[in-house]
Parts: sequence; C-alpha cells; structure tokens
Amino acid sequence: MAKFERIVILTGAGISAESGIDTFRDAGGLWERHRVEDVATPEGFARNPDLVLGFYDARRAALESVEPNAAHRALARLEAEFTGDLLLVTQNVDNLHERGGSKDVLHMHGELSSALCTSCEMRSPLDVPLLDRPKCPVCQAPTLRPDVVWFGEMPYRMERIYEALGTCDLFVSIGTSGAVYPAAGFVQEALMNGARTLELNLEPSEGSRFFTESRHGRAGEIVPQWVEEVLEG
Ligand code: OAD
Repeated sequence: MAKFERIVILTGAGISAESGIDTFRDAGGLWERHRVEDVATPEGFARNPDLVLGFYDARRAALESVEPNAAHRALARLEAEFTGDLLLVTQNVDNLHERGGSKDVLHMHGELSSALCTSCEMRSPLDVPLLDRPKCPVCQAPTLRPDVVWFGEMPYRMERIYEALGTCDLFVSIGTSGAVYPAAGFVQEALMNGARTLELNLEPSEGSRFFTESRHGRAGEIVPQWVEEVLEG
C-alpha cells in the first residue's frame, strides 16, 4: 500500500460478526427475525414502546457474552501507531471497538450503552434495562429511549464525517453491505474528493464498483493484514 496521511474508516456489522453478533442482512440476520418498521423507526416506538425497549435491552445484554475480535484489535493498533490522521466511524451500536482498545470512535448510528431522554434530550450512560423505565439522571423523567438512530432520523456528527471525507487520502469500508444511506454514499464522496477507496468485506458490497481496490474475506483475517501493511509503510 502506498503511504497515506489521512485515513477514514467506516465499519459495519460484518466487523463484529466473528465476535458472534448477528449482522442485519445476511442469512439469519436481525432483519429476517424482526420488522424494521417495528423496532427501528420512531413510529414503531410510538406504537409499541415495550417491544422496542425489549429489543434493545436484549441486544445490550448480549454484549456481555461477546468479545472483540482480531479486526477490532487491529484497528485499535492502527489508532495507536499510525502517525497520520485517522477517523474511525462505525455504524455499529455495539461497544466492541472500544473494548478492542480504540479510544476515539464515532458512532454515527448511536450506542446500545447510551440512553436518550425524550423529555430533556440529554444522553446518559445506560447499564440497566430500559423496560424497567429508569429515570433520566438529568431531569428525573422516566422517559429514556435507546440512544440509537432509527430509520427516518439523522445520523450523528455528519458534519465531522463529511469534513474528513473531503480531505482524506484513503477511505476504507469494512464489513458493511452498503445498503443504508448516508453511510453507503461515503465511498463516492471520498472518491470524488480524490481519495483512494478500499473495501474489506466478505463479499462485494452494493457500492463495490466505487472502490479502487476490494479484498474479500473474513474481517478477522483481512483487517489485521491490511493494518500491518499500512504500518509497515
Ligand atoms: P449488513 O448486515 O447490511 O451488512 C453486513 C456486511 O458484512 C455484509 O456485506 C456481509 O457480507 C459482511 N460480513 C459478514 N460477515 C463478515 C465477516 N466475518 N467479515 C467481513 N465481512 C462480513 O450490516 P451493515 O452494513 O452494518 O442501521 O448495516 C448498515 C445499517 O443497517 C446498520 O447500521 C443498521 C442496519 O439497519 C440502523 O439500524 C439505522
């Protein structure tokens, strides 16, 4: 790999698959067992809050029995050793990047371990079931919802992401199907701004043609390999 100075990395559910977290669109994935409209939209939450709170409580509880894998750890090593600028953006709501050692992770779709108060709009760390209707630590109202971005809502920190996409010299997409915008459009944005683009995924994603280079395989193998190459220069 040529030498790069400003790298933006986007990760998706595929990077956590080998840790035992279900992806969304693969066979047996989350969206085969749950209707998106029911559990991942503001309308679904308004219709049946208990169903939605229970769905995210179960996903948060499941994090306790999984561990980060070699791909998460490799990206943490890259953060620690890369001398240029690095922005790690994840669509994942799990905490495996952090537990793998990454210090600075931009969760554009929110986090399971955070709650958002629908009364005062403040965020707070979450480690109890939302179905128990805990009080917001800021305003004391029992009106917490998962701090995750649902379909129809605006992903977090888009300004920061587009700023980095405008100046990066390498954009890397890892373990994402490229089915959900705006994240699916990041590759074109980076390409348009002159960056090289690299896809590391089990199979070609929907936007595969926009990548200068594609490597297909399991994240736990191909991500550490790529990190090694970047750090060797
Ligand atoms: P998807 O389930 O759509 O895609 C996962 C991708 O990971 C697929 O392309 C798989 O081929 C690939 N994959 C599976 N196992 C892998 C492995 N071991 N190594 C490498 N790649 C692997 O998940 P996302 O693209 O993350 O949003 O989904 C994007 C968004 O759609 C999610 O953030 C979520 C979902 O609906 C919201 O809920 C708002």
